Order: sequence, then structure tokens, then C-alpha cells
Amino acid sequence: MESFLIALAILLLFVSVNSEEMSYEQLLSQLHACPKECYCPPSFPTAVYCNNKALKRIPKIPPFTLYLYLQNNLIDVLSADAFQNATQLKWINLNQNKISNEGVEENALKSMSKILHLYMDANQLTSIPSPLPPNLEQLHLSRNQISKIPAGVFSGKKNLLLLNLQGNKLQDDAVTEVTIKGLSTLVQINLGKNQLNSMPKGLPPTIMQLYLDGNNIQKIPAGYFNGLPKMTFLRLNHNKLVNGGIPKNVFNLSSILDLQLSYNQLTEVPLISSALEHLHLDHNKIKSVNSSNICPVSIDHLDKYSDEIVPRLRYLRLDGNVIEPPIPRDLFNCFRHLSAVVI
Ligand SMILES: *[C@@H]1O[C@H](CO)[C@@H](O)[C@H](O)[C@H]1NC(C)=O
Ligand SMILES: *[C@@H]1O[C@H](CO)[C@@H](O)[C@H](O)[C@H]1NC(C)=O
Ligand SMILES: *[C@@H]1O[C@H](CO)[C@@H](O)[C@H](O)[C@H]1NC(C)=O
Repeated sequence: MESFLIALAILLLFVSVNSEEMSYEQLLSQLHACPKECYCPPSFPTAVYCNNKALKRIPKIPPFTLYLYLQNNLIDVLSADAFQNATQLKWINLNQNKISNEGVEENALKSMSKILHLYMDANQLTSIPSPLPPNLEQLHLSRNQISKIPAGVFSGKKNLLLLNLQGNKLQDDAVTEVTIKGLSTLVQINLGKNQLNSMPKGLPPTIMQLYLDGNNIQKIPAGYFNGLPKMTFLRLNHNKLVNGGIPKNVFNLSSILDLQLSYNQLTEVPLISSALEHLHLDHNKIKSVNSSNICPVSIDHLDKYSDEIVPRLRYLRLDGNVIEPPIPRDLFNCFRHLSAVVI
């Protein structure tokens, strides 16, 4: 009895520090309701670990669970019933299961009103499940078979900041103004490793990070970024871009700090802005680098004026091209902040 009381006292001490305002009664009911297949650590009672257990069904989730780990199982049904009492859930990891759209029960997701992060990477979805939880901030759906985005699936999703759709089967007609309408706060979208032949349409003006690696994009329409004033990180590695497909000023935008165009078919360095800090141009077909052409400002002006107009480029990759060394020395006359050039 005594050792039990000591253990309980230690437990309570722990809980008072770690749990997010859970009373003693709540703690007991939480631990009591822990599914036998899962692990519910007393020191972190809001988390329930049911990962890597070869589970075919989602067990009944205890009422005070905030963080739920179900990744790497054989679950094929996302059942509304299992979550009936778990109304506080903030974070669910369902990566690497076998959930298809048919397996997502009506309202299973919709009723999760407090979910902020939903991970369903590497399942068997062919479409974005609908309706989505209403207050989601991050939606991870990479490595499924998604080819469809139902119109309106994002409408009213005013908190969604991150959408990861990498490694799916999206074609150009799937990502349009109509299908992605409503993403009014989106900051990062990953559409890498899909089947896009052109730049996605209808992105919201809040986007800062656009990842399009591993598609078949050959060109960028002139003014494409006009409606995207916050574009900061742009990745187009492993596409089919040629210089003819890049309008002169398309990357000449002061918001872009990191531009990645590795593994394309460029033969010349595209025009960049003075604000750009990182430029990846490795593994293209660039033959030569002419500093007076690629310098965003006139090198003569640089000598006359203050440091303010000196281009910000710090990191440049040019390896895997067909450039004859040495690097032209006047590159450093223009890009005075360059600390690394890989050639
Ligand atoms: C929900 O909680 C009630 C009361 O504790 C319990 O009887 C019921 O089995 C729970 N349902 C699920 C799905 O966990
Ligand atoms: C790049 O954009 C800046 C700012 O809009 C502009 O002043 C500059 O002339 C452009 N560069 C070229 C080569 O067109
Ligand atoms: C670089 O381009 C400028 C302007 O097009 C040209 O005058 C100059 O000769 C070129 N420099 C080299 C080293 O090819």
C-alpha cells in the first residue's frame, strides 16, 4: 500500500507538470480506458501509442487523448465509432496504413473538430477525403494514389497552413482555381512527384513555399508569380525546364530567397533578382557563366554605390553542368556575399 501511494504521488507530481490541465479523475479514466493494444504513458497521459502493432482496426480511443500514434499498421477503415469519445484530439498519425477513400467513414473526419495535424501519408487514397476536419492546420497526404481533388473540399479551411500532396498522381486538370479554392491561409504546398506538365493554377497569395520537384514542367507562364507576392522558397528540381520556357523576368522577384532548378535542361543562367540568397542550378546543360549577363545590377554601379545594392547571393550550385573551369573571377565582383560556389 505504501509503495503504491508513493508511486501515485510521483505520478501525480509528474502529471501536474506534464499534462495539459488534466484532473486526477480524468487521468485515471484516461489510463483505465487505454486500449490493450496501445501504450499510454502515465507521464504523458494525453498521448496514446498504438503504432507498429499490425492492427487492422482502430481501437476505441480514450477520452482525453490529444496525440494519437497509429502509424505503420494494417488499418483499412477510419471509423467514426473509434473516435466517439476522443473529442479533444489535436494530432493523429495514420501514416503507412491501408486506408482508401471507401474506408473513410462518413463524418469520421468531419467530427474531429479540434484536429490540427492529420498525417495520412502512404495509404491508399485516390482522392482527398471529404469532408475534412474543419480546423486543420496541416494535412499530410503524400505517397497515396491521389488523382482527384474534389471541388470545394478546402472551402472554409481558414486555418490550413501546410498541404503535402507529394508522390501522388495529380495531373494538370486536378489542381485548379476551382479545386483548391478556399485555402486562404496556405503557406506551404508540396506537389512534388506528381504528373504535372504545367505550373499549378489558383494558388492563394499567401503561399511562401512552393515545391514542384519531380514533375514534367517545361515552362512557366510570364507573370506567373504576379499573384504570389510572398513566394520565398521555390523548388522545381527534376523537371524539364528549358530557357525558352522561362520568360525573362519571371524569377526577377525580390521575395524569392531560395530558388532550386537542379536537374532541368537549362543552357543558360536565368535572370535573378538582387535579393536571391540561394540558387541551385546543378545538373543542367549550362556551358558558360557570363558574370556581366547574370549580375542583377550593373557591375559598374556596384563600384560607385553603397553596399545596399550588392546582390545578396550567398550560395550557388553549378556542378553537373558543362562549364569549363575556372569560375570567372568577376562573378565575385558582382556577388560579393558569395560564400560557397559548387562547380
Ligand atoms: C465512450 O465512453 C463511454 C463511457 O465511459 C463508454 O461506455 C463507451 O464504451 C465509450 N465508447 C467508445 C467508442 O470508446
Ligand atoms: C528586375 O526587376 C527589377 C525590379 O522590378 C527591375 O528594376 C529590373 O530592371 C529587372 N531586371 C531586368 C534585367 O529586367
Ligand atoms: C559577356 O556578355 C557581354 C554582353 O553580352 C559580352 O560583351 C561579353 O563579351 C561576354 N563575356 C564573355 C567572357 O563571354
